[in-house]
Amino acid sequence: MSSVLKVSDLHVSVGETPILKGVNLEIGQGEIHALMGPNGSGKSTLAYALAGHPNYSVTGGTIEVDGVNITEMEADERARLGMFLAFQYPVVIPGVKVADFLRHAVTNVRNPDRKEGEGLIGMREFRKELRSRMTELGMDHEFARRYLNDGFSGGEKKRMEILQLAMLQPRFAILDETDSGLDSDAVRVVSEGLARLSGPQMGVLIITHHERLLEFNTPQFTHVMLGGRIVETGDAALANELHSNGYAEVRKRHPQAAAEEAAAEEALA
Ligand SMILES: Nc1ncnc2c1ncn2[C@@H]1O[C@H](COP(=O)(O)OP(=O)(O)OP(=O)(O)O)[C@@H](O)[C@H]1O
Ligand SMILES: [Mg+2]
Repeated sequence: MSSVLKVSDLHVSVGETPILKGVNLEIGQGEIHALMGPNGSGKSTLAYALAGHPNYSVTGGTIEVDGVNITEMEADERARLGMFLAFQYPVVIPGVKVADFLRHAVTNVRNPDRKEGEGLIGMREFRKELRSRMTELGMDHEFARRYLNDGFSGGEKKRMEILQLAMLQPRFAILDETDSGLDSDAVRVVSEGLARLSGPQMGVLIITHHERLLEFNTPQFTHVMLGGRIVETGDAALANELHSNGYAEVRKRHPQAAAEEAAAEEALA
């Protein structure tokens, strides 16, 4: 059976401030969706809410995987259900090596009933798999010995992200790839890596302003967020239009959402 990630009328607040105001989105396994929208429209907030980040409180609506309500689940439970989230600003964990981190993550996802403290997947078998994935992705095997994200360049952080995807093989991958701090090497790593890994087993939500990312990963669906709602959904042509023309036309087509966007900015100023 093909899986579905379904977001229904999702409302999310940060502190007292409502950010998402009723987001609806349905991603099927094997589909590529692009999420676009101006700065501050709520794209990363949606990604954090999907990840179960504690600072983002869901005040209404649901997130479901195959009809199972995951809205209240912890991040690790979501990962076991096959969700993968890559962030704009990945955490640095000095003292934990890439290989150790991945061995834990892979064990948790593949043995969902494992109790804390029970054995990890076998070292030899794991190393063999890790090396072969790294070779496929053109990565130096030494990389696995480094401390997670510690001193990683933009491109290396992205290689790490793609390596995680390759090892975990999630059903749903949510990639928040905003323009800040992404050099062209990093964009290439993600766009080629994703093109190699995505397929009928994986549903992908790419949050990006980068044309290049979508060029190699043509979205079947493009969603536009404005003022905390998805105001339009189209195909790859909509992404191209937004890249060429920006959001002025979208704001004109959705005056109500544009007014709320302006009011929220006013409140922050
Ligand atoms: N942790 C937080 N604390 C305070 N405000 C937040 C927090 N996270 C998000 N917000 C606010 O929520 C709104 C949406 O932010 P969000 O980061 O989701 O936008 P975005 O669409 O991802 O923008 P960008 O394209 O710049 O990445 C903004 O007004 C932002 O200031
Ligand atoms: Mg963002």
